[in-house]
Amino acid sequence: MSSRAHPGLFLTFEGPEGSGKTSQMRALAEFLRGQGYPVLTTREPGGTSIGLHIRDLLLDPRFGDMTPRAEVLLFLADRAQHVDQVIRPALERGDIVLCDRYADSTLAYQGYGHRHFDLEQLRALIEFATGGLWPDRTFLLDIAPEEGLARNGAQRDRLEGHALDFHRRVRQGYLEMAAAEPERWVVLDATQHWDAIQDQLRRHVQALIQARRAAQVPPRG
Ligand code: TYD
Repeated sequence: MSSRAHPGLFLTFEGPEGSGKTSQMRALAEFLRGQGYPVLTTREPGGTSIGLHIRDLLLDPRFGDMTPRAEVLLFLADRAQHVDQVIRPALERGDIVLCDRYADSTLAYQGYGHRHFDLEQLRALIEFATGGLWPDRTFLLDIAPEEGLARNGAQRDRLEGHALDFHRRVRQGYLEMAAAEPERWVVLDATQHWDAIQDQLRRHVQALIQARRAAQVPPRG
């Protein structure tokens, strides 16, 4: 699960609808650009033009009869295209890539939430789709589903119309994955003031950039 084969930095943002992850990610991107770093922001599903078509298929409420295997394969097809066409080239250029949802969404939603698939089987499919590319850090904006859904308002697409129990399992799944791999995950309490969350994100990323730099400096002498 190493992603060290590139000079860039791959950061993903996870959490439920209404956690504020998208606006936090955008503000962090602006901040990093202001510091002079090359930054690419993207999202799943829909980070490529092929992916936008896949996204329409996935979210369209008319396709309520989509089978779980077809659904997960569409998320993975979207990701395969995204990795090859956008994410990997940016990382190879040395960009900081900020991605709104990635592989952990599949584990959380299709695995823990829907429970249609064995988690190990899902991981193997994700490895295939991504060519083994995992993020350097994953920020989880954690919030109780009741609160997240309330913030999100009444608008619901095909994927958002699930019962509260489903969303509780998704949250538990995220927390379990974060606890199992603490060196990759950073869990942030999404009920905090927006500025406090943004501040924590900036500090984490700056520390990560410093640590990378320090590791790259050749020894003197
Ligand atoms: P989206 O409209 O992008 O909004 P948000 O990220 O703010 O929730 O919704 C994407 C939906 O797709 C969301 O309900 C989570 C779901 N999803 C999965 O079920 N599996 C996946 O692999 C991904 C990437 C997303």
